[in-house]
Amino acid sequence: MGRRAVVTAGTGGIGLETAKGLAAAGYAVTVVGRDPGRGARAVEQINAVSAEPETRFVAADLASLGTVRTLAARLAAEGPLTLLVNNVGAMFVDKQHTVDGIEASFALNHLSPYLLTELLLDALKAGAPSRVVNVTSGAAARFVKRTFDAVEPPGGYYGFHWYGRAKLANLAYTMDLAKRLQGTGVSVFAADPGGATTEMNNGSGRVPKIVTPGLRLLWPLVRRTFERRAATPVPVAAQSSIFAALDASLTEQTGLLIDPECRSVEPYNSSTDSRMAEAVRKLSERLAPLVDA
Ligand SMILES: NC(=O)c1ccc[n+]([C@@H]2O[C@H](COP(=O)([O-])OP(=O)(O)OC[C@H]3O[C@@H](n4cnc5c(N)ncnc54)[C@H](OP(=O)(O)O)[C@@H]3O)[C@@H](O)[C@H]2O)c1
Repeated sequence: MGRRAVVTAGTGGIGLETAKGLAAAGYAVTVVGRDPGRGARAVEQINAVSAEPETRFVAADLASLGTVRTLAARLAAEGPLTLLVNNVGAMFVDKQHTVDGIEASFALNHLSPYLLTELLLDALKAGAPSRVVNVTSGAAARFVKRTFDAVEPPGGYYGFHWYGRAKLANLAYTMDLAKRLQGTGVSVFAADPGGATTEMNNGSGRVPKIVTPGLRLLWPLVRRTFERRAATPVPVAAQSSIFAALDASLTEQTGLLIDPECRSVEPYNSSTDSRMAEAVRKLSERLAPLVDA
């Protein structure tokens, strides 16, 4: 097996298109998802565009930290890793908790990719030059609480804002990790796909309760903005992740946010702030210890 790539939530939506892009560039791609039937169909589609058809599906519910640990142990045991695309993410209309009792959007958009990345660092260092791509969102850019002393911010649950805050936590982690890994040959990028009509967006963007009562007063405008953003074809939305994962212009660079037009832009919402990074790190270490107690 040649260069190995892992794409989480790689059996549908933006992740599937990302996996196709990596496979076409010659990577042996592992796609992770929950549903084996969907995984098998994804493998067929990815192999159809592969330079070397070496795709496989690995089943894992990434909302469970125990499952993330098991997945990481399996992947790490297989040797050096060249690319990790943490694409998993979701917005929930109603508040939910995972099997670990953690609010689901924080768990899936930040803690799960955080834990998987930390547990694969040795494999990524062994595969250097290697890259980590964390998929972010413009939802992190505004209207989110920027304190991270607890998973759940004070006040009511609003799916869009809590999703954005979890993405901001992950973006702060991404920028901090890039600094930590300088000199190791592991580059770390965030990629913003913009918007696309995927499962994540089908439905939830039409439910006013995902935003605060104040923003609901502007609902027709907010809804139009969501719909306009979600109008991008999914293969186009995958381009920022593919660019961050593969583009030669990023060789030896790190700590960049790649926007939907594949440009390097200022990280959203002061996510390079070292105090924010420290708060996210402490919370992440407490909730998702690298070794299960
Ligand atoms: N769509 C947008 O407009 C948009 C905008 C900005 C950022 N993003 C970000 O882009 C990334 C991809 O979004 P998307 O819209 O493509 O999402 P999506 O269509 O909802 O993703 C579907 C994929 O996620 C997998 N999945 C869902 N829950 C999972 C879980 N608990 N464990 C493992 N796999 C899981 C699904 O597989 P199974 O069903 O088999 O589990 C499938 O492979 C996310 O990080 C999202 O936050 C999306």
